[in-house]
Amino acid sequence: MEFHVKNGSVEKQRTGCLVVGVYEPRRLSPAAEQLDKLSDGYISNLLRKGDLEGKAGQTLLLHNVPNVIADRVLLVGCGKERELTERQYKQIIQKMVQVINDTGSTEAICFLTELHVKARSIYWNVRFAIEAIQENAYAYNDFKSVKPEVRRELRRVIFNVASRKDLTVAEQAVEHGKAVSTGVALAKNVANCPPNVCNPKYLANLALALADEYENINTTVVDEAQMAELGMNSYLAVSRGSENPAFMSIIEYKNHPNPDAKPIVLVGKGLTFDTGGISIKPSEAMDEMKYDMGGAASVYGTMKAIAEMKLPLNVIGVLAGCENMPDGNAYRPGDILTTMSGLTVEVLNTDAEGRLVLCDALTYVERFDPELVIDVATLTGACMVALGTHTSGLISSHNALANDLLNASEQADDRAWRLPMGEEYQEQLKSNFADLANIGGRFGGAITAGVFLSNFTKKYTWAHLDIAGTAWKSGAAKGATGRPVPLLSQFLINKAGV
Ligand code: BES
Ligand code: MN
Ligand code: ZN
Repeated sequence: MEFHVKNGSVEKQRTGCLVVGVYEPRRLSPAAEQLDKLSDGYISNLLRKGDLEGKAGQTLLLHNVPNVIADRVLLVGCGKERELTERQYKQIIQKMVQVINDTGSTEAICFLTELHVKARSIYWNVRFAIEAIQENAYAYNDFKSVKPEVRRELRRVIFNVASRKDLTVAEQAVEHGKAVSTGVALAKNVANCPPNVCNPKYLANLALALADEYENINTTVVDEAQMAELGMNSYLAVSRGSENPAFMSIIEYKNHPNPDAKPIVLVGKGLTFDTGGISIKPSEAMDEMKYDMGGAASVYGTMKAIAEMKLPLNVIGVLAGCENMPDGNAYRPGDILTTMSGLTVEVLNTDAEGRLVLCDALTYVERFDPELVIDVATLTGACMVALGTHTSGLISSHNALANDLLNASEQADDRAWRLPMGEEYQEQLKSNFADLANIGGRFGGAITAGVFLSNFTKKYTWAHLDIAGTAWKSGAAKGATGRPVPLLSQFLINKAGV
């Protein structure tokens, strides 16, 4: 799909389809008003007859509107003026595309950019429109021998802006919207890929391919032999039960005007499958544990997005690839592991493996002398219990970083919520035999997991995102969401100050 912006008036647009909004009850948006005048009241006449109330998502497709040179006019209901939420706006945009795809129109000029979506600017209206359109177009059919055929006539969407001076910012919104939705789609593809294909080696190959694609990206891959030399015994213990060896990919993006600027480091949990190991999971919905690499997928998608946007930053993305399997050689409950940091961990549950992989990855990244580190992980079922499936969990002891992430999450409409930390939670992780236990009991499981990680992040500014509830959807619409690529990309856009 092509996206453009322009500044023009409705009457001059020669195109397949003009899209204008109608508020509830039967109130014309400024662009609809102009078309109504041009057509001597043709539109208001239809509304008066009751053909469109203006409820959010209602549509009415018109042909041969008097005096209008566009082939079609699509009226789109936008609900009550000034009550429109981001979510409704995106749904309206998706409805628009669905209706036009069923016509013969390959191009649309969209005036819905003039809608009031909360206090959003034209930048956000354009960017969210692109993200919503790409979300609507996404399908994962790589493994279907007969690809479902969908009619997709619409090729080009042109967003109109009300004044010429909005053009620059709208063009930037197009660039950012395209990059973020590319990153989201990529993260979805990797996460949806089945675990017999998407194994740690596969993740490493993706990371290497990114370096071939972009001049300013360099990728190195740490294999199990190197991990052993580094003392990453905790990471290796999780991997030991699997025939698919672990690989940790380091994707270095260098584009800061000062090449020596400290990097921002993103670390993604990349469990390409999590059976639970010897503490094996129940079989119901276990297939969904292919999504346990959602953190790594989102880091990969974010690296793609920032490379597309050419953000002037130094960013390192780490994909901590690993598979957790039960096996004669698998690690056991009761094992005590010496992590790369030197801290020892008593394994009380082999299903709490994410933190065991991440703790060593988080120690490893100390060598980059990072400005800050954010880890992203489908870490705990407890986070889903706490926050549901709409909001990611955020844990950090650094208020400024936590606030920057919350701010980016609100901006990008990719929600996150901060959970508390504290010594009391640390006490839940006491072990009789080692420095730490790998689980902290029944209560506050998302927090104790985050607090466990905080033992390994003392040398830098750090935040943790638990995306167990948000990385994928279960049920009939099962599939990866690509979250939190929008949040992370926005955080980095803000950091870059572009
Ligand atoms: N990958 C899971 C967390 C998870 C479970 C995410 C279900 C999404 C849906 C993680 O490795 C895990 O198994 N965590 C355990 C921790 C427990 C043993 C302390 C959990 O949440 O049950
Ligand atoms: Mn697990
Ligand atoms: Zn897991």
